[in-house]
Amino acid sequence: MEALVRERIFGSVHGPLLVGREGEILPSVTSTMDVARERLLAGAPDGYVVVAENQTEGRGREGAWECPPGMGVLLDVVLRVPLAASEQKIIVLLGTVAAAEAVRRLGLPGRIKWPNDVVIASEESGRLKVRKLGGVLAERVVRKNAPAAHILGIGLNVNQTEADLPADAARTPTSMRIERGEEFDRNRVCRILLQELNFWYHRLRMEQPERILARWRRLSCLLQRRVRARVDGKIINGTILGIRSSGELIFQEDGGARRLLSDRTTELLL
Ligand code: BTN
Repeated sequence: MEALVRERIFGSVHGPLLVGREGEILPSVTSTMDVARERLLAGAPDGYVVVAENQTEGRGREGAWECPPGMGVLLDVVLRVPLAASEQKIIVLLGTVAAAEAVRRLGLPGRIKWPNDVVIASEESGRLKVRKLGGVLAERVVRKNAPAAHILGIGLNVNQTEADLPADAARTPTSMRIERGEEFDRNRVCRILLQELNFWYHRLRMEQPERILARWRRLSCLLQRRVRARVDGKIINGTILGIRSSGELIFQEDGGARRLLSDRTTELLL
């Protein structure tokens, strides 16, 4: 099992460089989100990256993010793009697009499952099956007398075997190794992920969120699909038509109205 190496991860992004120009690799942290927040508050530059070999309190959208030491990618970026609170969901969309694109460049058919999953999708007897490869978490950091900034955390399952993954029947986790049948070079995975983050963060910086949304739509495994969803406890059926930069899904309910679904109130049941 190879360790993460500074020279193999940072400074390898070509073109105007924001993400990964500066960063650090740490052996063990509570969560890279905690360290990235600290670095942001201490004045770390835009695009500063924190990578860890291990997290003792890794966070996911619905609880803990588990990854045995040295087997995955656990990475956070400080993003100082000024965004209003109502616009911040674009950061999650950016993160999922960059992570799915990185997975694709590494030879696996990475897709996005709303709101923040990176998945491998397949069709089995006409039903969509998704296996979760990774996830994205974004937090807005508000400081007195300074514009709000963001931390974007990405977790990817890279070299776990089935035995290393949490038993989670509902979310059926997988890893890049399981999907390809051989180990991946985590330094290369990190480097390519940083290149993709850099590319998509430039699009956001150049005020082209539409480019991120267009790629998100292409990578989504659910667009134009009929799904079941639980919204405020009520089950509804319908078709996903699109996404807004606010992160809300545009949803056509069967025999009903078109509506927007927020991840605060909605769970997709597939
Ligand atoms: C999810 O799918 O629930 C989101 C998972 C996000 C995990 C990453 S790992 C790096 C960063 N640090 C954390 O504690 N969480 C994110």
